[in-house]
Amino acid sequence: MSVAIVETLRQVVSPGDGIVITTPVYPPFREFIREVGAVVIDVPLLGDSSRAGGYRLDLAGLDAAFADGSVRAMLLCHPHNPLGLIHPAEELSALADSALRHRVTVISDEIHSPLVHAVETFTPFLMVSDAAREVGVTVTSASKGFNLAGFKCALLIAESERSLALLDAMSFEVGARTSILGLHASITGFRDDVEWLDGAIAAIERSSALLTELVAEKVSGVGYRPPRAGFLAWLDFRSLAWGDDPAARILDEAKVALVSGPHFGPGGAGFARLNLACSPEVLTEAINRIAALR
Ligand SMILES: Cc1ncc(COP(=O)(O)O)c(C=O)c1O
Repeated sequence: MSVAIVETLRQVVSPGDGIVITTPVYPPFREFIREVGAVVIDVPLLGDSSRAGGYRLDLAGLDAAFADGSVRAMLLCHPHNPLGLIHPAEELSALADSALRHRVTVISDEIHSPLVHAVETFTPFLMVSDAAREVGVTVTSASKGFNLAGFKCALLIAESERSLALLDAMSFEVGARTSILGLHASITGFRDDVEWLDGAIAAIERSSALLTELVAEKVSGVGYRPPRAGFLAWLDFRSLAWGDDPAARILDEAKVALVSGPHFGPGGAGFARLNLACSPEVLTEAINRIAALR
């Protein structure tokens, strides 16, 4: 994925240009932006307790950032890591209109989309409108859905002449950096393993329901909204006053490894990310250990 994202960014930005991300977000996005010599522009998600995911895109903030002539691209995370948030089609459509108006390319990272939970609806960015197809490039992979991390194979998808031209302008060598093993593993996953994927999603949903119970019973001040997609749980420790980086204390004292919220950028302080793709025994043990710190 990182090769696909970075090489797409190289096609649309010059050193010094701005690239927007919506924090708190997958920390390597910042590194990808630095790698192409561009500048990170944070437009944090807005908290919205009326919404299932608890957050939404700041469409006015994004439009204002795009209006600054230095912004040439946005890295959208859809579904969003670490929140498991699925952006609604109408918001994506408004985002695409704004990007088209300001000539901003939207790179939609949809790596978590095979793991959309059973009752949720996911609309790929390129399906929302002609404007989205004009400004958008989707980058995705079988690596999350089919547990193929390290197989080094991503897909770049374009649905307009403009976006196809961007991909065609890449050197042949970019495609040659794909692993042949990863290529065949990805084809097998997407083509043959739908049943396996359904089982993986069901297991994650059970894990998430268990986490809801464990949090209520044992660490009731911690905030948890089940993800709508993917296997990541974004935990809000702010009411426990464990400081900006609760994961540091949890690792030191409880020997449970969560990912530090502040690594995800603005909006991450006081939070930590937990991976739900584990057995009920491991999850229960982790929460018991965290509860013992109180
Ligand atoms: C949103 C997002 N993009 C990209 C990646 C990188 O995926 P890969 O390791 O398959 O390159 C990850 C992995 O966690 C991710 O969550």
